[in-house]
Amino acid sequence: MTNYKNFTSLSNFSNEELLDILDLAARVKSDDYRSQEAAGKVLGLMFFNPSLRTRTSFETAAAHLGAASTLIQPGQGTWTFEGNQGVVMDGGKTEHIKEAIQVLSGYCDVLGVRAFSAMEDFEYDKNDRFLKTISELATVPLINLESAWEHPCQGMADWQTLRELFGDQLGKKKIVLSWAPHPNALPMAVPNTALEVAARSGADVTLACPREMMLEDTVIANAQKRAAEHGKNITISDDQQAAFDDADVIYAKSWAPSLVYKNKEKIAELRTKTYGDWTITADKMGLTNNARFMHCLPIRRNVVADDAVLDSPNAVHIQQAGNRLHAQKAILMKLWNLS
Ligand code: CP
Repeated sequence: MTNYKNFTSLSNFSNEELLDILDLAARVKSDDYRSQEAAGKVLGLMFFNPSLRTRTSFETAAAHLGAASTLIQPGQGTWTFEGNQGVVMDGGKTEHIKEAIQVLSGYCDVLGVRAFSAMEDFEYDKNDRFLKTISELATVPLINLESAWEHPCQGMADWQTLRELFGDQLGKKKIVLSWAPHPNALPMAVPNTALEVAARSGADVTLACPREMMLEDTVIANAQKRAAEHGKNITISDDQQAAFDDADVIYAKSWAPSLVYKNKEKIAELRTKTYGDWTITADKMGLTNNARFMHCLPIRRNVVADDAVLDSPNAVHIQQAGNRLHAQKAILMKLWNLS
């Protein structure tokens, strides 16, 4: 039975259900689909962290369907919210999410929430506790706009891009998810989802990262399970250049591993110095099978990937970002039963 009640985690959906959404995304893209089917509906967008693509693509998708959207930015024209249970609220936070989410559910027809990891409590993040608490409070469909552990909307746009690039040959292609340096310790939501999507797509998947930057065992195991459904295995390598051999896609992403919760200084040194040479360069792209370059954006030029990579015709990061609109329009249509 298709579960279109929420869109909070890819794990709630079968491949068939996600491909059904992606078929709709391809259709609304090719038709430049616009209608007034959702007139009178309101999409609430609650951003605890900044955004360019997620915010604008959801606002645009809602407008294309005739719906209104309303932006809630805690602390920026909106009260600040306490998310922990049982707290004596005599500090800076003015309202508890227990009230806020129930109130917003009374106004909005769908609620989207972005809340990154604070990188303080690993088990809390690994279990996506904050998003789950909001999910328990919301009485309308909830969309994950990037939580501590997953970025499913990005994953859908990535999958749509891969299908556009390779069509029914996708299962014969090699996708490399490569760690890259970054001045900041970034959360694992995007690589967690990118690995799952690559595995679900049926492609050959290699995770290239320094040993200290390894994704969590549960994430690897989930991707292995998804790959096995296609008779494939996830390959893991700490040799970036060897991993790039014969690749058809290089998906670059920076992230900090669970060690960052215990030792931020150690990770800072690894991130910027020890593995500072993991930047994606034109020379490294030359080792591949003329690979396409993917990144979720925003990207730090000449840190994560060189200008020559981003400005090359093989870079598809703008196409990826464009597909956020179409994939999310399809998600809204499914949640609102418009298709
Ligand atoms: N990739 C992505 O989610 O972009 P924003 O952070 O700009 O929304």
